[in-house]
Amino acid sequence: MAAPVREDQELELDIDSLAYGGNGVARLNGFVVFVKRGLPGDRVRARVTKVKREHYPACGGCRFQDLAYEAQIAAKADQVADALRRIGRLEDPPLEPIVPAESVFHYRNKLEYSFTQTPEGPALGFHRAGRWDEVLDIRRCWLTTDLGNAIRETTRDWARSQGLEPYDQAEHTGFLRHLIVREGRNTGQVLVQLVTAPGKLDRDSFVAALSRFPEVRSIHWAVNERPAEVTNLPTTLLSGEEAIEEQLGGLRFRVRPNAFLQTNTAMAERLYELAREYAQLTGEESVYDLYCGIGTIGLTLARDALTVWGIEVSEESVACALENADLNGITNAAFFAGEVGEALEDLRGRAGEPDVVVVDPPRAGLSGKALRRIARLEPRRIVYVSCNPTTLAGNVKELAGEWGYRLERARPVDMFPHTPHIETVALLTRG
Ligand SMILES: C[S@@+](CC[C@H](N)C(=O)[O-])C[C@H]1O[C@@H](n2cnc3c(N)ncnc32)[C@H](O)[C@@H]1O
Repeated sequence: MAAPVREDQELELDIDSLAYGGNGVARLNGFVVFVKRGLPGDRVRARVTKVKREHYPACGGCRFQDLAYEAQIAAKADQVADALRRIGRLEDPPLEPIVPAESVFHYRNKLEYSFTQTPEGPALGFHRAGRWDEVLDIRRCWLTTDLGNAIRETTRDWARSQGLEPYDQAEHTGFLRHLIVREGRNTGQVLVQLVTAPGKLDRDSFVAALSRFPEVRSIHWAVNERPAEVTNLPTTLLSGEEAIEEQLGGLRFRVRPNAFLQTNTAMAERLYELAREYAQLTGEESVYDLYCGIGTIGLTLARDALTVWGIEVSEESVACALENADLNGITNAAFFAGEVGEALEDLRGRAGEPDVVVVDPPRAGLSGKALRRIARLEPRRIVYVSCNPTTLAGNVKELAGEWGYRLERARPVDMFPHTPHIETVALLTRG
């Protein structure tokens, strides 16, 4: 379904609501049109200046682009409330208003593209909505920047000039599999990672093609020998630095190719500010930062805590976290590699009991074992950063029902406009 309007077209529109940010919202054949200075009730004659829906709804990346942004965030806030009521068994969840995204487009600092074959040669894009076996050739992605789009287009042109073949997921033939572009949005530094099947890569030509972008500081190559579409693989450095840097909340963070970094930089800063507010630190506390990634939350809290102790399963991320403590001159934080459920006992022996525990687990939430071990430490406060309200709600129920914790406050944060994903920060207290 293409957009029903084109640039420069004149339209007569009825404004029916206001979008977040103040533009009027009108609808045309089910498509949303934002109108500058349009107010609800106005009938206006407007000229189209920008069409933002080039690949919608075929592309699986942005599922909700045709839902006005204020309706998107209202629906997300409702989902968190509903999960806490239904699964968390809280009659009246103490929810604070959702924090809207600062930008509804161009907000991602990382995109993973798949190569695909087209009549014109290799192209790069995302999976067609609902299809594992079909990739849509993307010419302009609205979630990345102009720079991110230009790097993808340059890589596509390079692939064509080299006569390379995209990997065929059904036949398991071909060479080019994925391109990952990661952008330090506050530093301007870019990391590019090419993923191929085993075979010969003309490294020099790839590096030369990207040399027109001074922002590209780090170019890696990973070889995927298996059919499964994974990108989290050991890499070979082709050019530049091993890692790039991003800046969050005034701190610098080194990011290696496989290390976790929240993909919306601006909203990660808001998320961490909220975690800091909920942690209520006075400078006297011992804080555990569990599922700590590259140490972003722990290092943000370190200036207000006595000590910070992080646990993270990815050794690459832990290496970054240790470097990041040094990079920022932070001496009261230590990070260890391990599974939270397994490593907590050891950490307790080393660090003593925590006053505050921050958890930021993957979508599956806290496993039974991790939850029990955290609860047995009896921290006064648990700050739970969640990327899945249903597992958050299940964990809240268990922490309340079996371990005497109470959900004191919770606040959804919209990190991913146009997608179903919702982040929530929650504070649980004991006693
Ligand atoms: C949602 S990320 C959060 C990272 C970090 N707090 C941040 O804000 O960037 C979850 C992290 O948990 C790590 N992880 C997943 N399962 C784990 C486990 N069982 N034990 C420890 N870390 C785990 C992942 O590698 C990832 O870095």
